Amino acid sequence: MESDSDLLAMATAIARDAGKILLTHFREDHQISKKGRIDLVTEMDLKAEKLIVDQILLRFPDHEILAEEQGYQAGNGPYKWIIDPLDGTTNYAHGYRFFSVSIAVEYERELVLGVVYDPVTEELFSATRGQGATLNNQPIHVSDEDQLIDSLLVTGFSYDREEIKKNLEFFNRMILHSRAIRRDGSAALDLCYVACGRFEGFWELSLNPWDVAAGRLIVEEAGGSVTTFRGSPSTIYEPELLTSNGKIHSAMMAILSG
Ligand code: IPD
Ligand code: CA
Ligand code: CA
Repeated sequence: MESDSDLLAMATAIARDAGKILLTHFREDHQISKKGRIDLVTEMDLKAEKLIVDQILLRFPDHEILAEEQGYQAGNGPYKWIIDPLDGTTNYAHGYRFFSVSIAVEYERELVLGVVYDPVTEELFSATRGQGATLNNQPIHVSDEDQLIDSLLVTGFSYDREEIKKNLEFFNRMILHSRAIRRDGSAALDLCYVACGRFEGFWELSLNPWDVAAGRLIVEEAGGSVTTFRGSPSTIYEPELLTSNGKIHSAMMAILSG
């Protein structure tokens, strides 16, 4: 078994390298293709992902990989890497400064490590199971706020029009019961912002494992709660996610399941 600290050092170094190339080419003209009507991919998503996957396979040729652009690559053994090379592609393509690199590791199907790197602010969020969560090596914790009306929330809208309509109903209800809601466009960073107390809660209807794997462990290790909208335990393979500081969880659930 690899040591947690070795894997963390490696994942951190790779996330920083990928973040660096994203930032170097930020606000250049990009080759943008459409995966769907509004779902974009740039050449930088592909370049960053190749850099990440190549470095992992160089060291661990038999590890399983799930990466957004290349998909699933079978491995042989207990380790699985889950990668979003550029979370916030729409922001990136529009020159909007909110995007991240997200890298997580499962060992025997359990999340054990998560790293989310924002190259613009140089903030690196990380967690290993049972060891707490950090931001640039300093421990972080979710906020203590227990009133939804005094809470800053965040959500995201998927690329599917029907899902967008559904979330607009939740958004309309939630905004009347909270201080304010943001839509920042990087689910990985949204989770990390809950982990360090900038947001009290985050919900989204239709996420993929690579959007949430690293951020989910980071928020859990920072003391937050992560469930379905109805409060059942969830995994990164379920599209729906509700996360909060725990104290406003049931108030958010009441709105999302009502
Ligand atoms: C998206 C972002 C966004 C969320 C979408 C995701 P991408 O990931 O995380 O915040 O609302 O659901 O698909 O496409 O930029 O990697
Ligand atoms: Ca993503
Ligand atoms: Ca992505």
